[in-house]
Amino acid sequence: MPQRFVLAGGTVVAEDGVQSADVLIDSGRIEKVGRIHAAGDVRIVDVRGKIVIPGGVDVHTHMDTPFMGATTSDDHASGSRAAAVGGTTTYIDYAFQRPGERLPDVLAQWARRAEGRSAIDFSFHLAVTSPYPDLVADMALVVADGITSFKVFMAYKGLAMLDDAQLFSILTESSRLGATLCVHAENGHIIDVLADRMVRAGRTGPLGHLLSRPPETEVEAVNRGIVLANLADAPLYFVHLSTAGATAAVAEARAAGRPISGETCTHYLLLDEELYHTPGFEAAKYVVSPPLRGREHREALWRGLREDALGVVSSDHCPFCMSGQKTLGADDFRRIPNGAPGIEHRVPMLYGHGVRPGRLSLERFVEVVATEPARRFGLYPRKGVIRRGSDADLVVLDPDAASVVLAQTMTQNCDYTPFERWHVPGRVDEVYLRGKLVARRGRFVGRQDGGRFLARRPA
Ligand code: URP
Ligand code: ZN
Ligand code: ZN
Repeated sequence: MPQRFVLAGGTVVAEDGVQSADVLIDSGRIEKVGRIHAAGDVRIVDVRGKIVIPGGVDVHTHMDTPFMGATTSDDHASGSRAAAVGGTTTYIDYAFQRPGERLPDVLAQWARRAEGRSAIDFSFHLAVTSPYPDLVADMALVVADGITSFKVFMAYKGLAMLDDAQLFSILTESSRLGATLCVHAENGHIIDVLADRMVRAGRTGPLGHLLSRPPETEVEAVNRGIVLANLADAPLYFVHLSTAGATAAVAEARAAGRPISGETCTHYLLLDEELYHTPGFEAAKYVVSPPLRGREHREALWRGLREDALGVVSSDHCPFCMSGQKTLGADDFRRIPNGAPGIEHRVPMLYGHGVRPGRLSLERFVEVVATEPARRFGLYPRKGVIRRGSDADLVVLDPDAASVVLAQTMTQNCDYTPFERWHVPGRVDEVYLRGKLVARRGRFVGRQDGGRFLARRPA
């Protein structure tokens, strides 16, 4: 492929709306969007009848991550290939501090895990799980290195959970540095009480995971987080929201002009809590935190996306195999590693089950899978948008094709997918990373070391 080429005649979801246009790519950047009369050695790629969107930006992943006694089954190599196949060209992974580790060392560890192995562009958030005396100075160091977001947990006692005083201090510092604080909002104290009760009552299977994390455990934590953010006069970003109550709390804070934002994930939008009643240990496939919810919550999440209470859909890609990993909790649901694979299916599922049934407009779909995530995390306008000067990260979708999700044929390195056998209208046909073709109709065709680390600005 020459340095200059044109995606010609597609329906382009560009910065200024959906239009029938050509996209001229030169040296990995978007040169022009509009009518292009190409001459010379410019190659023409005919995309008539196709939809052209910016490459997906997935801001919540866990590659090669030790968590709850297992390590996620995708490393940066396999996970980034899966992302590319599914139309995602940038991801932000959570670098996870363990007790005794300093943030710059955690960042260096995560960089070693990803560098030369990622097929798409990447960056990191830093999850602070164990505050230490020099934390504030070290937060400034990693921000200077382009890591402009941190994460804290209000759950996972003994593993990652911070108390309110710790959260409040980190929130204040993060805001002072111009960074974004991401919060896992569930009330870990109450969850532990309820989970212990379940086990004492002999309820040790995966259903106990749902029953010990009722919606109130998320809603309480989100409301507490908003109060603390108001008190600190700091912005806050809630990850993986699952409930109507949390969405309403974020909507209310935003309506009051507070810098509060929220993300939900593909699985909360599409999968029902009924799945925890699947017989035997199968339901462990859906042990994610917070858990899946019922229909009224899903409808509230879709509405929240449409009305901008929620601005981002991430995958929370956190794959653990059923065989040998999820089985750590075969006798006690509290030990099932929390998480599920999803990076490969986020963009296709949101198009096929968001846009096609009319839950989201084409423009809003692009905003929540690419533009807003890039904006919120300091990558815009380099990423997440089709406009002159942006990286030529582009996805060509065929609206007339369809696919079926099967673990057997997917690229993610996991022995199951929570979307097994889902029929998905539309198909990711071609994916370009900085002008280079990296995936074509379900096959990775890029370079394994083609991804670059992205130092980010404060959002
Ligand atoms: O179940 C989940 N979400 N696992 C990943 C860790 C986290 O809380 O994001
Ligand atoms: Zn979380
Ligand atoms: Zn996560």
